[in-house]
Amino acid sequence: KALARYTFVVEETPYKRLCSTKNILTVNGQFPGPTLYVHKGDTIIVDVYNKAKYNITIHWHGVKQPRYPWSDGPEYITQCPIQPGAKFSQKVIFSIEEGTLWWHAHSDWSRATVHGAIVIYPKKDSSYPFPKPDAEVPIILGEWWKKPIMEVYHEMLRTGGDPNVSDAYTINGQPGDLYPCSKQDTFKLRVEQGKTYLLRIINAAMQDLLFFSIANHSVTVVATDASYTKPLTRDIITISPGQTIDVLLKANQNPDHYYMAARVYSSALGVAYDNTTTTAVVEYSGKYAPTSPTPLPQLPYYNDTSSSVNFTGSLRSLASDEHPIDVPKNITNHFIFTISVNSFPCPNNSCAGPNGTRLAASVNNISFTNPSIDILQAYYYGIKGVFGTRLPSFPPYIFNFTADDLPLDLETPKRGTEAKVLKYNSTVDLVFQGTNLEAGTDHPIHLHGYSFYVVGWGFGNFDLKKDPLDYNLVDPPLQNTIAVPKNGWTTIRFRADNPGVWFMHCHIERHLTWGMDTAFIVRNGVPPNTHLLSPPPDMPPC
Ligand code: C2O
Ligand code: CU
Repeated sequence: KALARYTFVVEETPYKRLCSTKNILTVNGQFPGPTLYVHKGDTIIVDVYNKAKYNITIHWHGVKQPRYPWSDGPEYITQCPIQPGAKFSQKVIFSIEEGTLWWHAHSDWSRATVHGAIVIYPKKDSSYPFPKPDAEVPIILGEWWKKPIMEVYHEMLRTGGDPNVSDAYTINGQPGDLYPCSKQDTFKLRVEQGKTYLLRIINAAMQDLLFFSIANHSVTVVATDASYTKPLTRDIITISPGQTIDVLLKANQNPDHYYMAARVYSSALGVAYDNTTTTAVVEYSGKYAPTSPTPLPQLPYYNDTSSSVNFTGSLRSLASDEHPIDVPKNITNHFIFTISVNSFPCPNNSCAGPNGTRLAASVNNISFTNPSIDILQAYYYGIKGVFGTRLPSFPPYIFNFTADDLPLDLETPKRGTEAKVLKYNSTVDLVFQGTNLEAGTDHPIHLHGYSFYVVGWGFGNFDLKKDPLDYNLVDPPLQNTIAVPKNGWTTIRFRADNPGVWFMHCHIERHLTWGMDTAFIVRNGVPPNTHLLSPPPDMPPC
């Protein structure tokens, strides 16, 4: 049977927001881009045409692509970018996930507008582990800059410091009517009293973790990162860049208009929001005079870490007979990765970071730099000198990671393209330890090619003797992105059963650019069916 084919044309399209028009990169002229609807078990081909004047790549966030990293998408990790005028046919394999994921550009900062939802239905003969909703709606949270995003990106590269704060947050590409000139640019969710809606929420924002809530309503979480959870009913959810959360919304209030709203919880900028709350309107059908002003939900304040962990720390895998889990218990690889934002000296102290420095970010004190050709190609063909395999498994020594001052040698990381090699089917227990350099923030760490179990987290320094005793090995959530709390730690576990090269990075875009990244190289197993598949003939050249 021929595979289903989709066409993605990446091109510039004018869009008007916040009283001004600019050209943005879109897929097929749409912002947000088209939603892909598939069933678990499907394989599709997406023909990606680059009709823009920038390099581009497309990544299928959270899709495991078993044994086939060739079309995973991160530039210089698994492919060279698709150049202007060129085309790349990407095979996307949905074999494991069920729920909501998303696709986005993975080159420079173009994902700001080049992104869209992926809806993965259960196999045709099976159903959701919750009552069938009356309707389903993707809710994509994003960020909008008045300036062209390439300008913002280059300004950040030039000065080595923070670019401007975005001018608005958005819901399905629209800021909502609390922003100037945005009356028309407000997403409307029309509901009927008594019905249930499945909202497929995606945080596509560039730099910020967000709180989300709907006035007078609670929502019930049923899945995160395309993996089912035990139902969790809350008034407020926290969602980090990269993460997807499926919730059921019951339209059980008086017919009226209610705001759904999102605003920043934690930001790499270290500044509080001002009026930057994005809204959409939940509109009940029927004849009535809507309350004025429209009720707005109460959202927690900036940096309210306890509200955030209270939600994130309550997520549990469904772990049912039909959706069993398999947490690795015998661990072959123990790692502790410190994740820091650092600063490099800058000529004449003239950069825009603290004290005229240039900002950087690192994993175990190595600030990742992109190679000149992709790591996957270099690994597969044995091309030397492209990457190293010396990412340390542990920080060089144990110290107080969350103190105000770190040892000097750890404040200035080394630059490098260092990966970590894993044996096929070995098991990994990985602790992310946040540090307090350059004012801590939550770091949403994302791993390509895998989902991992989040078995523990805490504030302050990880304690090797005590903390593992409290790990949840019974029903930990299975995620592809996890927010490591500010000045805290998080432990994940996974089995290295997907051979290939898989990027791991902070999903805060500037931290990715500054080097809070590494890649796992997972070796082939003993055949059959445990080795990397061969590349397609049309891999883009560098
Ligand atoms: Cu959502 Cu490396 O990506
Ligand atoms: Cu980060």
